[in-house]
Amino acid sequence: MGPSMQINLDSRPASKVEAEALVSYVFEPEKEQGTAVQGVIADLDQAAAGALGRLASGGELTGKMLEFTLVHFAPGIGAQRLLLVGAGKSEKFGTAELRRLASAAVRYLKARSVKRIALLTRESERTAEAAQAVTEGLLLGNFDGDKYRTDKKNPPVESAALVGFDPAAQAGIARGRIIAESQNFTRELGNEPSNLLTPRLLAERAEAMAREAGLAVDILDEKRIEELKMGALMGVARGSVEPPRVIVLTYTPEKLTPGTPVLGFVGKAITFDTGGISIKPSNDMEKMKFDMAGGAAMLGAMRALARLKPPVKVIAVIPSTENMPGGRAQKPGDVQIAMSGKSIEVINTDAEGRLILSDGIAYAKQLGATHLVDAATLTGAIVVALGHFNTGVFGSDAAFTERVLASARRAGEKMWPMPLDDDYRELIKSTIADIQNVGSGRGAGAIVAAWFLREFTGDTPWVHLDIAGTAWLDDAKPWAGKGGTGVAVRTLVDLAMNFDGRSPTAK
Ligand code: BES
Ligand code: MN
Ligand code: ZN
Repeated sequence: MGPSMQINLDSRPASKVEAEALVSYVFEPEKEQGTAVQGVIADLDQAAAGALGRLASGGELTGKMLEFTLVHFAPGIGAQRLLLVGAGKSEKFGTAELRRLASAAVRYLKARSVKRIALLTRESERTAEAAQAVTEGLLLGNFDGDKYRTDKKNPPVESAALVGFDPAAQAGIARGRIIAESQNFTRELGNEPSNLLTPRLLAERAEAMAREAGLAVDILDEKRIEELKMGALMGVARGSVEPPRVIVLTYTPEKLTPGTPVLGFVGKAITFDTGGISIKPSNDMEKMKFDMAGGAAMLGAMRALARLKPPVKVIAVIPSTENMPGGRAQKPGDVQIAMSGKSIEVINTDAEGRLILSDGIAYAKQLGATHLVDAATLTGAIVVALGHFNTGVFGSDAAFTERVLASARRAGEKMWPMPLDDDYRELIKSTIADIQNVGSGRGAGAIVAAWFLREFTGDTPWVHLDIAGTAWLDDAKPWAGKGGTGVAVRTLVDLAMNFDGRSPTAK
């Protein structure tokens, strides 16, 4: 990932801060005759002898969301440039907007080869929480998936001074760095091409990360996978010459009270999804290298949790294989026996994610997970339902599902609850086996996939995140580069940090 941006608090007055660019943000005026130049910006304007007020009255500084106004060599201001970013309506502005704004500012300046920046916070955002969001935004915005380019166009920003924050904000910077660097770790894995990230190589990367972070690690090879009778995973792996792996990472808190809940994180890690014998069309198939994004999200979350040390034990189980149409590949109509003992009729070999997850869920339960969360690029159908804006959330326990949704809101990741009522269960009935891996008839594809997973969770409270629409950006946004997004990392980290034996749903 390269050297990361340095981020420090700076207690000097904003006009005295020396940097290549000083960033701040302005809100849309509340009244027609109002001005965007208010509060700390009015102080800057005074130092700059009214230069900003003139920009506002001339219509160049409106406060509209993500409008950029760049001023060079403003009089009375120590920084070489002043970048004012529109922040929209102040009543709609929260930490999610602040994070995004910081990302967008970094990307704007990075594109102009600016290396040393400062960011002046507004009056109501001086807390550790705000500093955490800003830090996350800065580090996420600084990331580009250009690892294999020898002509990197945009060199990263090297340092940022945070101006105007409370001294307590230091703790927020530390937390934000851990979380954003972990999310970037996930993004980088998502961007890796499948020839350079086979299941074996993913396991090696996970193992190296775990050793550095101080997590317990166990890599199941094909022999142990067979001993455990993970027939659904092995069925998918048959089609490839690359052997499958199951990555198991465990975080154990220093003080562990017996009987407290154990979170189980299960992530889909198909390092390439051709569809198998039910092969996909070649258009866009190259994108299927990111079909391991769920597993990568679990790895990123574990990387962060090892450093943030929540009071709860967390076990991550990441089944990984290629889905290939080799000569020994499973064929439509084949029956596989999952680790749980359930028989599965494989109607479509392209519905492989739910197959490998079924064994991952069974193993996480065997290892003692009392609450399960899975993340998977599971269905095209969730993209039809929610587009690329929201992750689809399914669950078997209303209270636990609400906890995950609350974490998503705090983490600034858009997630939306989907139905999973009993009526849909009949769609996965099979004639010759316990269940089939796709729905009979059309419709409800994302719900059918979730119901398939639910068959393996039993009574254990479980939440499923379908990230097929949110784990990848086809085009860069002002606040994020193309490619892997690292979605779900921040939500999972928040969930574990706020999950302990005293929680109402912690059975
Ligand atoms: N990995 C795909 C889902 C996917 C599609 C992720 C598009 C990201 C973007 C999954 O394995 C798959 O192929 N699902 C099938 C299921 C179908 C055969 C029931 C799908 O959604 O078409
Ligand atoms: Mn598939
Ligand atoms: Zn897939």
